[in-house]
Amino acid sequence: MKKITVGALLLSMMFAGVNAQSLKSPDGKFEMNFQLKQGVPYYNLKYNGAVVVEDSKLGLRLFKDSAIKFASEIAKAEDAKFDLNNGFTKTDEKRDAKNETWQPVLGEKKNYINHYNELAVTLDQASTDRSIVVKFRLFNDGLGFRYEFPQQKNLNYFVIREEDSEIDFPTDMKAWWIVADYDSQEYQYQETKISEIPAQWGKAFDANASQTLVKNAVQSPLMLKKEGKDPLYVNVAEAAVLDYPASHLEVDAQNFKFKTHLTADRQGAKGYIQTPSVTPWRTIIVSPKAEEVMDSKMIFNLNEPTKYTDTSYIHPTKYMGVWWEMIIGKSQWAYSTAENVHLGKTDFSKLTPNGKHAANNTKVKEYIDFAAENGFKGLLIEGWNTGWEDWFGHSKEFVFDFITPYPDFDIKMLNDYAHSKGIKLIMHHETSGSATNYERWSDKAFQLMNKYGYDAVKTGYVGDIIPRGEHHYSQWTINHFYRIAEKANEYKIMVNSHESVRPTGESRTYPNYISAEAARGTEYEAFGGNKPDHQTVLPFTRWMGGSMDYTPGIFQTKLDYYFPGDKRFVKTTLAKQLALYVTMYMPLQMAADLPENYKKHMDAFQFIKDVAADWDDTKILSAEPGDYVVTARKAKGTDNWFVGGITDENKREYTVDFSFLDKGKKYEVTVYEDGKDADYIDNPQSYNIYKKQITSKSKLNFKMARSGGFAVSVKPVN
Ligand code: NOJ
Ligand code: CA
Repeated sequence: MKKITVGALLLSMMFAGVNAQSLKSPDGKFEMNFQLKQGVPYYNLKYNGAVVVEDSKLGLRLFKDSAIKFASEIAKAEDAKFDLNNGFTKTDEKRDAKNETWQPVLGEKKNYINHYNELAVTLDQASTDRSIVVKFRLFNDGLGFRYEFPQQKNLNYFVIREEDSEIDFPTDMKAWWIVADYDSQEYQYQETKISEIPAQWGKAFDANASQTLVKNAVQSPLMLKKEGKDPLYVNVAEAAVLDYPASHLEVDAQNFKFKTHLTADRQGAKGYIQTPSVTPWRTIIVSPKAEEVMDSKMIFNLNEPTKYTDTSYIHPTKYMGVWWEMIIGKSQWAYSTAENVHLGKTDFSKLTPNGKHAANNTKVKEYIDFAAENGFKGLLIEGWNTGWEDWFGHSKEFVFDFITPYPDFDIKMLNDYAHSKGIKLIMHHETSGSATNYERWSDKAFQLMNKYGYDAVKTGYVGDIIPRGEHHYSQWTINHFYRIAEKANEYKIMVNSHESVRPTGESRTYPNYISAEAARGTEYEAFGGNKPDHQTVLPFTRWMGGSMDYTPGIFQTKLDYYFPGDKRFVKTTLAKQLALYVTMYMPLQMAADLPENYKKHMDAFQFIKDVAADWDDTKILSAEPGDYVVTARKAKGTDNWFVGGITDENKREYTVDFSFLDKGKKYEVTVYEDGKDADYIDNPQSYNIYKKQITSKSKLNFKMARSGGFAVSVKPVN
């Protein structure tokens, strides 16, 4: 417990009850209290009567001018009288409630339930004649709140210096966190107490192509656990980050307190606002069960329903890719040996081929053949277009045109060939962070996709953002990501975005933005490694706001198979790779390994061929962040279920109770489990497959190897 001085306690008791508003969740378990203490807004949160969040301050600081001048120190001077964090009186209070069921276009369940009680408090700042609204929504799984800025005489335009929303916890808790950065989320998760974050922070990152670290701050979603006899799991995140920067959390390690830290632009500005306007929601999900936190759809519920009139083109897709061979360094994106190329001037057909260009007609046809034979519908091809010779690290603005293929990539022939076999090629638009250039070319790029029948694009933002001085998570760049999603919708194209901001439920509003990377994916197994517990943390953090393009399915885990002596390896057993297709929600689902590696294990590959990518139901059977995840999902429109279980670096046993199946029905399961001698270091490719008949009364026990897992497909027997 924190030390509270007697004076502070007396002061808080004096103000308690004065001007306080209370809000309860529909099931009555949560209670939120709002109050003004000497004109300063505070909220707290209780769960089953116990304090989860102590009195925590709300408010924003603003710049003096609504048009801050670049490099002008005068315009940047602090002046408390412009801030929206003090001197308030409460002038109005509105209550509302909602209980609705909505259907995501693609999702983990058929129905998402949006059930909350709402309190909106209007606060007037008499000294400046301005007013704001703080809106709270209390769900059965937690709290969301945001600021709203009505249009008014003295508040038409403003620039945010910082949002100072606090979350003050009463006790030290275990935390799963990555370092805060304006440009990257591609870090290993740390597991420490809140109080230990500063000591660990300096050891918690490696280099990235674009990196702007924020010292002693962490990213959200942040996962927390109060340990002890009454454990409580808490997830701190945000929702609907639109026309606003993404936020990080500054850590006050002595007081177990976090405070919002918005991504700045180069001027230090943190949001250019024109009223009427609203901020993203700050979210706090709470449950005594880790499974319930993972299962929460609160972040999606806090986003607006889509305005798209046609979503029929949006579909789940299983895909392969000309990809992993470049990631591991076996082949290349670039076509030639040139070091410096000029789009529109360089004649690529005259350059010397480097002999390692993967996106060539012969190889792509082989991938098409294999993907088609095995029932895939999509094939991603990277390195198809000119410009990869000097694609990043040079702050080059005109780096790609997204329409000109390399001389050995016959775009028409390959698309015709793919279509003749039921495959759609997936487009790749690496922007190298040059978002201005992408906006300039996006219409032509999407028209080319329409012409050749591509309906999905993987975008990428490796390197520093152009316009220079913007960051991957600053307001301008976030607007760019959703502008691209809207433009893609005009062309009926689905988007999977890499190195973009982490999603916070926006797929409800932009359902064609079907996936994103925005965390450390499989590629890092070739760039330094992911810890064996990585995939047990991600569903509690990165996944809380939307699906990730994790790109699993690596069967040949040891890279010395390609490069004798190479020490790199994917830290997993083969069976765990299969399980990831269930434990990770991915409507766009990649089988990332090379065809030659799948050909050696066609029996295990069968699971990837069978598994669904869109679901009517999901049950998190058991989960603990950093340790294990066991999930069952029911495939969309069928009675087929898939179960996946994964563990960290420890061996583990788990018994699946199949009572979620329909009573009285018979099912056949196909089990893919770690072999008796399987081990992620010593024997990753040892697995065992068997079939068995079961009913809803059956229980099956699984033994998971170190960093192992199991995958089960369950089909009704007619
Ligand atoms: C990084 C992405 O995460 C990866 O998937 C892609 O292949 C490269 N950038 C090149 O665009
Ligand atoms: Ca990446």
